[in-house]
Amino acid sequence: MSGLSPPSQDSGTERRDNARYVVRPMEVRDIPAVSGIEKLSFATPWPASAYKREIEKNRLAYYAVAERTSLAGDTRREPRFEVVHALQAESDGVLTRLARRFLGDAPKYDPEDAAQLEIIVGYAGLWLMADSAHVTTIAVDPPYRGEGIGELLLVALIDRSIEMGAAEVTLECRVSNYVAQTLYRKYTFRNSGLRKRYYSDDGEDAVIMTTDSLGSPTFQLVLAQGRARLAQRIGGHGPLHQG
Ligand SMILES: CC(C)(COP(=O)(O)OP(=O)(O)OC[C@H]1O[C@@H](n2cnc3c(N)ncnc32)[C@H](O)[C@@H]1OP(=O)(O)O)[C@@H](O)C(=O)NCCC(=O)NCCS
Repeated sequence: MSGLSPPSQDSGTERRDNARYVVRPMEVRDIPAVSGIEKLSFATPWPASAYKREIEKNRLAYYAVAERTSLAGDTRREPRFEVVHALQAESDGVLTRLARRFLGDAPKYDPEDAAQLEIIVGYAGLWLMADSAHVTTIAVDPPYRGEGIGELLLVALIDRSIEMGAAEVTLECRVSNYVAQTLYRKYTFRNSGLRKRYYSDDGEDAVIMTTDSLGSPTFQLVLAQGRARLAQRIGGHGPLHQG
């Protein structure tokens, strides 16, 4: 752990009680929800297969999802995952199911799986490379932005980076992405370089942003203060996210 103090007692393995949003590790079954948010958030979304590979094969990666709990109130968007009821599933013959697959019809989910997917409101991920943690993605479902969920996910990534022994966290961000850069600056990310024409869709440049040393007293203070503010904002008591 490169001499770092533990992320804090908040980075535990239990769910945060009475919170409106919680963060937990991403699982393969979460991918349809992640892909749905991804398409609304990025010009060139990763395919679902990329997330599956990351979760199953990349031991140096960490991916997490944020879920709303019942305390977050009613859903703020139309359902995205069509439900198939048991009787209907039985009556759908093999041909119907094959036709659905080849005609590209939206997949249907049993009610429990659909409900589980509907409550996912954001996701984020990182790779550890040498002693640096690279944020690969972070996004919040548009109707849920501006409530602290992006920050909750970022803190989960930082905590995981510390647990993995990273000395710093770094990322690339569109030069025009003011909102994301403002979030990152709250956690000591500063511009540390530029990648010209980094984004393939429109040739926009990326700014490289990197934190202070994760073990430094200044960073630890910023993290502790951010965590305390978030706890107030998200509500509840207990760890901020599952390990
Ligand atoms: C970037 C993103 C993840 C932020 O998520 P979010 O849940 O809306 O952000 P939060 O509510 O947690 O806000 C945290 C901080 O971000 C900054 N921020 C959030 N919304 C902002 C806005 N509209 N204007 C300026 N700053 C903003 C603020 O610093 C805010 O802290 P504050 O509330 O104390 O002022 C979200 O906007 C998103 O999904 N964007 C599309 C995908 C994307 O661009 N990802 C980043 C790729 S580099």
